[in-house]
Amino acid sequence: MHDKVAFVTGAGSGIGEASARLLAARGARVALVGRTEDELEEVAESIRGEGGEVLTALADVSDEAAVDEAVRATLEQFGRLDVVVANAGVNGTWAGIDDLSVEDFRSTIDINLTGTFITLKATVPHIGRGGSAVVIASVNGTRIFSNSGASAYSASKAGQVALTKMLAVELGPRGIRVNVICPGAIDTEISDNTDSQNEGVKIPVEFPQGTIPLTGSESGTAEQVAALVGFLASDAADHISGTEVWIDGAQSLLQG
Ligand SMILES: NC(=O)c1ccc[n+]([C@@H]2O[C@H](COP(=O)([O-])OP(=O)(O)OC[C@H]3O[C@@H](n4cnc5c(N)ncnc54)[C@H](O)[C@@H]3O)[C@@H](O)[C@H]2O)c1
Repeated sequence: MHDKVAFVTGAGSGIGEASARLLAARGARVALVGRTEDELEEVAESIRGEGGEVLTALADVSDEAAVDEAVRATLEQFGRLDVVVANAGVNGTWAGIDDLSVEDFRSTIDINLTGTFITLKATVPHIGRGGSAVVIASVNGTRIFSNSGASAYSASKAGQVALTKMLAVELGPRGIRVNVICPGAIDTEISDNTDSQNEGVKIPVEFPQGTIPLTGSESGTAEQVAALVGFLASDAADHISGTEVWIDGAQSLLQG
């Protein structure tokens, strides 16, 4: 990743943080973008301590002007843009349709789906041939988990998958690759952040024995997802575009 510049949203924690760390460790200069200043600064300081070169940019991904400003700051400081990781997202409200307000639905779509579109729309014009976008969706975007109440979340994640595939076709002739990662349950803070109105839908770190074929019961880690981000963003993946990659220990095959 030497000489490359990456723009990572939601970089203050979880998968975004792990991806930013990995890209920086591989020599990329990284823009850490997010809406939580303290977290971004802490991650930035830690990466700089390990010799990485990063900047922080405060932006809510659903705010087009703020994301445009983050891109402008990145170009001003680093001079180019090669990789974008559209990772920022929320679980939002998980509830049955009778209890799910239009406002709650909209706010999940605004961040997870429109935020991804805004991130790609702002960055892609500055990415040249050989560049790449990696979108972080979810297995919920392609599989339906019964009784979870995750209709807003699932719709937002399915939208990210469709957006990725459309853009892979559209941007292929410009030499830009676009791929989407669909993680299963990953042990991050998002597991605690569901505004759930249903009992038992918080994402557990450990599932009942046997529900995740590869591990038995353990969730994946942010670092495992980051390793996939690193691969898809690298030249080693230079013929891979429009692909949706699950990273879930085969859990969805049993539960979807
Ligand atoms: N953890 C899982 O089990 C899991 C599974 C599937 C998909 N995902 C997806 O992975 C992505 C990263 O989540 P995570 O698990 O690392 O959780 P996380 O909560 O640690 O990370 C999400 C990050 O996005 C930031 N963010 C949220 N809304 C934002 C906004 N409007 N603007 C800018 N930044 C915003 C948060 O501040 C946080 O830093 C999300 O898109 C999530 O849906 C996570």
